[in-house]
Amino acid sequence: MSVAWLKVSTILCFFCTAEMKKEVFRESGQSVKIQCRIHTDQDFFILKLGLNEETDIAVIDKASRKTTFLQEMTGRIQTNGEFPSVDIVIKWLNLNDSGPYWCMYSKIDDSYKQLFTEGNGSIILVVSGSGLDTTTEAPKCDKPNLNVAVVYVHIAALALLGPMLGFIAMIMYKGWDSSSGSTPRQTENRL
Ligand SMILES: *[C@@H]1O[C@H](CO)[C@@H](O)[C@H](O)[C@H]1NC(C)=O
Ligand SMILES: *[C@@H]1O[C@H](CO)[C@@H](O)[C@H](O)[C@H]1NC(C)=O
Repeated sequence: MSVAWLKVSTILCFFCTAEMKKEVFRESGQSVKIQCRIHTDQDFFILKLGLNEETDIAVIDKASRKTTFLQEMTGRIQTNGEFPSVDIVIKWLNLNDSGPYWCMYSKIDDSYKQLFTEGNGSIILVVSGSGLDTTTEAPKCDKPNLNVAVVYVHIAALALLGPMLGFIAMIMYKGWDSSSGSTPRQTENRL
């Protein structure tokens, strides 16, 4: 099983090396530490989860030192460090904690606009069931930018190991007919 997984990640890494974040592999029940850093002055720290950064996991307000956690995660998440350096530890991971975690910071400018900046330390977390042997180091593609499609493929690969292997085999041996019909794009013209 782990060998198959290794192969899938190797192939995917090969396809998409250009745009990858650090991947971190954990088994369910284990914990993960995310170390967010930034070199510029900031007002807020926000750890976001999701392909579209849709969930705020932890928010720290520099001025009040107040830390707010996502309700479902309280009790198994904690933060340490001196703002804006923030270490986040999430314990008792389960499968659905998998996904991209973004180290985001924001600053309120003179016109009260909130400007977001991504710091260093964002990761893609892959939590596997206890049946999966992940002691073998999977190939790492440490590149600063995150390609949303790649994350999707990675998460899908975890759930669909078999079909993925078949799909990749098809690409490699039969040649993939890339006649992907262009999606008609609808532009709305008012006035
Ligand atoms: C991330 O780290 C690099 C190297 O240490 C540094 O040059 C860069 O400014 C950092 N990025 C941010 C957003 O602070
Ligand atoms: C995540 O997984 C846990 C246990 O595996 C389950 O209890 C929980 O409902 C799941 N949460 C979501 C949002 O799917």
